[in-house]
Amino acid sequence: MTVVLGIETSCDETAVALVRDGVEVLAQRVASQVDLHARFGGVIPELASRSHLEVLFPLLESTLDDARLQLDDVDALAVTVRPGLVGCLLVGLGAAKGLALATGLPLVPVDHVHAHVYGALMEGARRPEDAPWPLASLVVSGGHTSLYESRAPSEHREIGRTLDDAAGEAYDKVAAVLGLPYPGGPVIDRLAGDGDARAYAFPRSKVGTLDFSFSGIKTAVLYAARGPNTARGAPLLPDASVPDLAASFQAAVVDVLVARLLEAADAIGAGGLLVCGGVAANSALRAAAQAAAEARGVPLFLPSRALATDNAVMVAGLGHHLFAEGVRAGLDLDAAPR
Ligand code: KG4
Ligand code: ZN
Repeated sequence: MTVVLGIETSCDETAVALVRDGVEVLAQRVASQVDLHARFGGVIPELASRSHLEVLFPLLESTLDDARLQLDDVDALAVTVRPGLVGCLLVGLGAAKGLALATGLPLVPVDHVHAHVYGALMEGARRPEDAPWPLASLVVSGGHTSLYESRAPSEHREIGRTLDDAAGEAYDKVAAVLGLPYPGGPVIDRLAGDGDARAYAFPRSKVGTLDFSFSGIKTAVLYAARGPNTARGAPLLPDASVPDLAASFQAAVVDVLVARLLEAADAIGAGGLLVCGGVAANSALRAAAQAAAEARGVPLFLPSRALATDNAVMVAGLGHHLFAEGVRAGLDLDAAPR
């Protein structure tokens, strides 16, 4: 039995989790900085790292309290070291190194994107290593939109990526165009439920074989919403319907994501599909991925909504797996933003 403490500070969520044997969550806490960044319409790196610094140690104490554990009960420290905002990564890394130095616990470096994939594998009572490899994995978040050929819990080969915006970034930018608050994903998701997805015909851009591009969709929404006057803060056209724009935009994004995922699955002969990252909380994407997996008769690995966005459960989970494989880092461990 192994207990891993996970620390995640790569972007705008400070998170700590205790996970037993890579799948059982003993306790977890996430402190979101959404309110801090909302008035700027995006993450301000300086504010984010400062906030991580303030919040991380109290969060660590409360997570240990929740699990009724002490650092003595922990077997390894897993920390996100890439990719992310460098100032933010360094806060988590500094804390993990301090703990390692004080306790002698081993330090396990974790890749945030691989952790998202692992988070999806943790759902249900399944053992991640028993998944029907290879899996076609779609990672969709505010910072990434990529396809991977996943061959094991810690073995992922990138086979497609976005050439411009990440899907979550496109959601956030489209929300800004429609005058909606940051982060745009959850708001557009909710509004789309009241809109007609066929009201506007937005492009389903196809670039390269397994790559994505969202700038065309984003620009099409801008013109549909504001006509020729695309200046920042310009009013929406009188006949523009925000719910219809949201639903039509979402339909275009989801169509593209699922189409490429299925093409990736064909290309690698996948035994299952996996969708993860913040945008995996999206109801339309969840429904479409589910329908596609059922139509093909293959399993779909999808994190719960709470574990779709950034958290430390996935970091501790993958950390357990890497720890078992013998992965260790010294105190010279550095952050790798890209
Ligand atoms: O994985 P995540 O928490 O952070 C990154 O690593 O980027 O993803 C955050 C992104 C944001 O762009 C947010 O708008 C999007 O995920 N998101 C959603 C939903 N919930 C969060 N996008 C669409 N629908 C949602 N329900
Ligand atoms: Zn993330």
